[in-house]
Order: sequence, then structure tokens, then C-alpha cells
Amino acid sequence: MKKILLVAGCLSLLLFACNSRGGSKQKEEVKEPQSATEAVFDNNDYHTLSNANEVLGKHLALDIEVDFKQHSISGTATWDIEKQKAEADKFIVDTRALLIDSIKYGDGTKADFELGEADSILGAPLSISLKPETKQVKIFYRTTKSATALQWLEPAQTFGKKKPFLYTQSESIHARSWIPVQDGPGVRYTYNAKVKVPKGLMALMSAENPQTVSEEGIYEFKMNMPIPAYLMALAVGDIKFQAIDNRTGVYAEPEMLAKAHKEFEEVGAMVHKAEELYGPYRWGRYDILVLPSGFPIGGMENPKLTFCTPTILAGDKSLVNLIAHELAHNWSGNLVTNQTWNDFWLNEGFTIYFERRIMESMMGKDYADMLWEIGYQDLEAVVADLGKESEDTHLRLNLKGRNPDEGLTDIPYEKGGHLLRLIEQTVGRSKMDAFLTKYFNENAFKTMNTRDFTDYLNKNLLNEVTEWKAKVNINEWLYAPGIPRTCPRAGKLRFNKVDTATAQFLKGDMSFSQKTGKWSTFEWMHFLRKLSKTPLSPEQMKALDHTFQLTQTQNSEKADLWYLLALKSKYEPAYPAMEAFLMVTGREKFLQPLYKEMMATSEGATMARAIYKKARPNYHPLTQRVIDEIVK
Ligand code: BES
Ligand code: ZN
Repeated sequence: MKKILLVAGCLSLLLFACNSRGGSKQKEEVKEPQSATEAVFDNNDYHTLSNANEVLGKHLALDIEVDFKQHSISGTATWDIEKQKAEADKFIVDTRALLIDSIKYGDGTKADFELGEADSILGAPLSISLKPETKQVKIFYRTTKSATALQWLEPAQTFGKKKPFLYTQSESIHARSWIPVQDGPGVRYTYNAKVKVPKGLMALMSAENPQTVSEEGIYEFKMNMPIPAYLMALAVGDIKFQAIDNRTGVYAEPEMLAKAHKEFEEVGAMVHKAEELYGPYRWGRYDILVLPSGFPIGGMENPKLTFCTPTILAGDKSLVNLIAHELAHNWSGNLVTNQTWNDFWLNEGFTIYFERRIMESMMGKDYADMLWEIGYQDLEAVVADLGKESEDTHLRLNLKGRNPDEGLTDIPYEKGGHLLRLIEQTVGRSKMDAFLTKYFNENAFKTMNTRDFTDYLNKNLLNEVTEWKAKVNINEWLYAPGIPRTCPRAGKLRFNKVDTATAQFLKGDMSFSQKTGKWSTFEWMHFLRKLSKTPLSPEQMKALDHTFQLTQTQNSEKADLWYLLALKSKYEPAYPAMEAFLMVTGREKFLQPLYKEMMATSEGATMARAIYKKARPNYHPLTQRVIDEIVK
């Protein structure tokens, strides 16, 4: 332990020395921590209690029933196993808050098992005794009210208001709360499933999916490509399908289907653009499921079926970059998967880069530059928030003993994405693209860790020209805090115009409003973010609202920033709309800043408590935990 601290200490000393020289170009080298002697920097997955390296669950056959009255999933998980070590006599899977009824071997005889003590972060290991000849185990189980992956919606919480809805969110380590599974990103398996649901409802998974409702409420699924547990997904509800083209389509509640279909009509073309960049889409169909508004995140890259929030249905396709993001994960993440949650930037940083390349090819460079600039602002904000010396601002994280959800900041996303952009700018685009295509192909269906990536990058790209390695100086990104001085900045062609408009507005000149007709969501975001640096007067707020109807906007990104500005400026006419927004939206990214801002003043806190009391039941159980910590 001491050794680790020492290394961390040295690292900050180095950086201190380097910072204190201010603008000097000369820089001490950041060294990669030496792994052999330091447990912190090994590549073990400390977030699974399973033993995949001894006995691997290779194929899962799920046979489950969804009970909306009990809020429980029950049935069997049958694992085909493969011994990795001949002497292994136990198959250990992760569980969290699961009830295990019994376990049988493939031949139908009873198996001995032990459910270990539950760890508050990791859950409980389920250890199943194996006989020398055992090839299969069948676990009879059911989920409980504490399942962290499941959100059960009452009919009133759906668009249709008539039928209940259920969805899962398994990333990072929540799959274990609805399936007994070796729940680490480094473990892959194939699966098939039979799912029984109430008649009239549709069931969908991260697998080959039905397009029509089954009479008896029984659905069969197949996923023939090996995936890690965090990509297990299930949704059940009043859902209909509409095709976009012959391999893409949209699922949504009937009330939302037409709107969703319109918003996503270019997704077929988007998949082609992605393929032009980094090679074939390997998962067969690419469909999107639009969830009810309680969905806690923006999107989730479940294979074959991206899950997404309805808050991106802005009516003008202006938030489809989120779909580009989830689509891109079908290469970065789903094909080449981070080995442990410490390497999360290999999933998300690559995906941010890929997302913006897709958007650039669809919308042009000046558009993509706005995404990069917004992302850079997010990066600055998260570094300020975590502290510029914080180890949590390293790309390579150290989440041992912590909840992996703590790694879910903008660091892996934006610092990771910007590192790839620096590499691109160093080697040129054509070399970058050839490298990435090769990387995805050669590592498809495998896992990758930060160290192996560095080796792969050097060997296949940076070693080619002597200066490249020094120029990228990758260790500074991976193992040192803050934003490296070499961090690329995007062109500001479109945002410069917004800055001019902002300056005019602050001088009381509204003539810029003639030009905002062409603004995209991102120009609005930039404008509203700039304004929120200082409170505005009631007259200024009124002028903005009167001219642009911001209180009534149906664009969630604009709404969120506008309500934030309204709170800062105490612009009360926006409060009822904000309350309505908080009542229906479960997307944590929007909720957190609004509740935090309210809690900053005593009148605000009273309002926050009153709204949260009513809205809380509409939020995901994990979101409730987060907001509980804010609204006290
Ligand atoms: N895979 C993530 C979501 C995730 C990560 C959930 C870690 C739980 C743990 C997904 O691809 C994602 O990044 N979603 C973003 C989209 C945005 C960056 C465009 C979101 O939900 O906001
Ligand atoms: Zn992502």
C-alpha cells in the first residue's frame, strides 16, 4: 500500500514541478505505473466475485416469467459451463438481492450450493459445487424489490397510461440483480431466452427480437454472439414496431411511435456512415427502443437494440447524436470491450470520438466542432468539480473497493475522446481511420485494457514516426490528472457567432434574434450556458422568454439549461414548467443540476423538497438514491 501512495506522491510532485514552470514546453515524463509490484495497477476485475478464470459460463438459457403484480422476475438460468482449470470444483456467479430456490445439474439431480455473504457494492457470490462430469447447472431463482437493474412502471408512468412497463439497465454491475451471472465485462457468453409476460404486452431483449405481439405472451430470443453481462437487457410493455429500412427500425409505445419514427428516419443512413468509417456492423439488425420518460439515462448500447430516453425526441432530429453514440458502441464496447471498469474510457472515450466522426460525416465539420466544444466545456467543468489533482481525472481509473458507477463522470468520455482526437491530429486522419478499423477487427469479441491498448497503439501506429509518441505523450493522459496542455480545441466558427449574439443581448440589443432561426440545439446550449455564468435581471429573462418561448420549449436540453438559468435569476414564471419537467423526466443528467441549484438557497430548498416528494416515485431506484443525497 505504501508503495502505491509513494508512486502517486511522485507523480504529483512531477506534475507540480511541471506546472510551476508555467508555459515552458519542457516536461517531465509521466511514467506508466509499474504493475508487477503494485496491486492497484493490475488488470484484475475487482467488481465480480465470480470465477470465470476457473469455470466459465459459456452459454445461458433463460426461462423466466415477468410478474407485474409482485414486481418480480422468476424462473431458471441454465448455464453451460467449461472448466478452465481441470481441478476446479465450483462454479461461482454473481448475484444481488436474488432469491435462490434450488439448483440442479444437467441430469436433473440436486446440486449443492452456497450463497455467500452480501457485499454492499458487489452483492453475494453464489457458489455451486461441481461434479467431475458436470457440464450444466440450472438455477431456480427470483428477483426481489431490491433489484437495482429493474424499473417497474405503473400505467400512469407510461405514455399510454393503460399498461405497466418494465425495463432493465444492467451496466455497470446490475445484471446480477436480475440474473445469476458472471458479471464482469471481461466475461462473454451467448444466450437464448424464453420470456413469459402478461398477454397483450411485447417483450424485447438485447437479441433477435419479435416485431409483433405474441398471443400467449410468450417470446423466444437468441443472441448468438458472445456478450458480457452488462449488455443483458429486457423491456416489457405496450410496444409496437415500425421499420426504418430493411435492417433498422423503431420500437415505442403506440402513442410515441410516429414521432420516434420521424425523428429517427435517418438512422438507416447513419449505420451506413458508421460502416464507412470503421467497418461492417456485425450485429445483424440495428433497432432502437424508445422508453417511457422515467428512463434514468440518455441511452444504452444494448446489442441489436439501443435503449433510449424519449427526451431526445426534439421534433427536429437535433439530438440524434445520442443515437450515433449508442450505435458507435457496437464497435467500441460491444465488439472491443473494456476489460475492467478501470478501463471504462476504452468504451466511452472511443465512442465519443466515433460518435462525433459519424456526426461530422452527416452534418459537416462546423457542426461536429460544436459537439467537441460542448464536450470540452464539460471536461473543464468535471475537472474543476473533481479537483485538477484528483486521481479520478486520470483516464485509467482506480475503482478497487468502490462502486464502479463512481467512475461514470465526463472524464472517460471527454478526456478519452479528446485523447483520440489528439492522436488523429498527430498522425493524420487516414492513418487514424485505418488504425481504428484494424483495432476493431483484430480485437472483435475480445477485451482490452489500458496497458494493452498503449502497446497496440505504439506497435500499430505511433512507432512509425519518431516524434509521434512524444507528441501524444499518452501516459500523461492515462496516469496523470487534469487536462493535458496538448488537449485539442475545436474550431469555433458557429459558436463565435453565438458569442457575438450573447454580447449584444447583454447590452440590451435583441437584434440577434433574427439570426437564431438557424440555431441548432448546440448553439442554444452554448448561449444558455454562457448566460448562466451570472444571474440575469427579470427584464432580461422576460425578454428572452417573450422572444423565444423558452419556458415552453419541447427540447429537453434547452429546457434543462433554461430552468437552471431561471432558478439562478429567480425567474418565477418558468417554475411551473420546470416542475412539470421534473415530474415526468427521470433522466438523471437533467435532474441533478436542477435539484442542486434549488438546494443552494433556502426558498429553493423548500421548493425542491415539495417537488421531489411528488416526483420521487417516478424516478429509477438508483436515481432516487442520488437525489436523496441532494434533497435533504
Ligand atoms: N453505456 C453508456 C451508459 C452507461 C454507462 C450506463 C455506464 C451505466 C454505466 C451509454 O452509452 C452512454 O454513454 N449514454 C450517455 C449518452 C451520451 C454520452 C450521448 C447518456 O446516457 O447520457
Ligand atoms: Zn456511451
